[in-house]
Amino acid sequence: MCTLSTDIRSRPENGHSCYDHLTARFAPFRPSADASMVDPGRLEAGGVQSSVECLLRSGDKSIGGITVNRVSRRAVLAGGLAASAASFDGIVPLLAANQAEQALKDVASARGIRYGSTAMASQLLAGDSFTDLLLREVAALVPENEMKWLHMSSMPFQSDYRVADCLVEFAAAHGLLLRGHNLLWYWSTPKWFRELADRKTARTAMLRRVTDMVTRYHGRIDSWDVVNEPVDGAGDRTDHLRADVFLKQIGPEYLSLAHMAARAADQDARLVLNECGVEYDTPDMDRKRAAVLELLENLRKRDVPVDALGIQAHLSARRYPFSEQKLRNYLKRAAAMGLEIQITELDCTDELAPADISERDRIVADEYRRFLDVVLDEPAVKIVMTWGLSDRYSWIVRHENNPEQRRRDGMEERPLPFDRDLQRKPAWYALAEAFTRAPTRERVSTREHSPAAEKFSSKRPDWIFAR
Ligand code: XIL
Repeated sequence: MCTLSTDIRSRPENGHSCYDHLTARFAPFRPSADASMVDPGRLEAGGVQSSVECLLRSGDKSIGGITVNRVSRRAVLAGGLAASAASFDGIVPLLAANQAEQALKDVASARGIRYGSTAMASQLLAGDSFTDLLLREVAALVPENEMKWLHMSSMPFQSDYRVADCLVEFAAAHGLLLRGHNLLWYWSTPKWFRELADRKTARTAMLRRVTDMVTRYHGRIDSWDVVNEPVDGAGDRTDHLRADVFLKQIGPEYLSLAHMAARAADQDARLVLNECGVEYDTPDMDRKRAAVLELLENLRKRDVPVDALGIQAHLSARRYPFSEQKLRNYLKRAAAMGLEIQITELDCTDELAPADISERDRIVADEYRRFLDVVLDEPAVKIVMTWGLSDRYSWIVRHENNPEQRRRDGMEERPLPFDRDLQRKPAWYALAEAFTRAPTRERVSTREHSPAAEKFSSKRPDWIFAR
């Protein structure tokens, strides 16, 4: 019987990442005391079933048999507006009076943009008012960790889908668009895959992972991050692929194989190449942007199906210079390839901002605004996801991010649109204001794919394995 992998400590052997430009080394991930993973105890037989039921029942405000106290809308608004008066005059007046009362998803959708957030099953199971707030504010959901391969598979060729299923059911029950994150990520790959001795088995395992996931959730996932962070901007490979476990175990064809397998398993899911470290004006990020664009052009030339470019957008207030022009060019060039653009993991660290909370919140809001004003001006940007909604649940606050981007004064970081008590922060208004200023997108009712879609759509997944 397979069990959910709780060993999130296995590290990639050559673990360099998009944070390399900071020269910092990642601390090993630890299971967090907070809610970074579902408590394995919950996953024992029976527990899971009730978890599924819990999540489904949350629609009628009963989570795990606990009646959820509805967050008082009035309290949220009162808190938010009071804060706005104190610390960000000048922002609110840009919003029409009724917009200040709207949810972010509504402000965004008025411009044809989907706004969503990540969440974990454990957060939705906590039975607190966070679930209510999430359902009020977001139109899209992305599991934070539960779909990652490492979290699903502790034994060769076996996966535990139960927690991922919960989130898929939760999204369906509440009409949320669902992003699939992710099929492959070097940082979150099972130990057994790293240890496979021959290429053919590794290739089969990778294709099985992609095909099984995409097939299982066929029709339920809007966009899949097929390979998360495949690019190395600083390496000397002409294909710009990161020298990671997939390159080592399979070879450079792994990326196109994964995309083709995903397309074959669900022709309508948008296939996304999701990258980090492209948001600012540094020589490393210049190289990264150029490398991503070159890789995408290359994939296009070879008819590899890719539908969208994901920009993670883990921002950091006051850390880097910013170039509006460089970011605009990056977006324009991706859009010119016919790609949709998605902002997939927006949040903002505040380690270089002063301790004073209203000053800090203002600085973080400014960082959000400066970034979003540029990206939302590009009509190809159709989805904006924040990596969490409230500071109560953030990988930054849990210190699972780059150690250099943590506060040194021991104060809690404040990276997201709502604070720990679910009150709106200036960042909420920065998002709302940027959505309001954005040009209106044409609503995309049907999914558009690259011409490669046609080419692969009639093929059965088997063709990929037949070599
Ligand atoms: C992070 C999660 O938020 C953490 O809980 C986990 O410990 C590590 O992964 N880029 C990504 C996300 O694509 O999957 C990462 O999520 C954050 C960086």
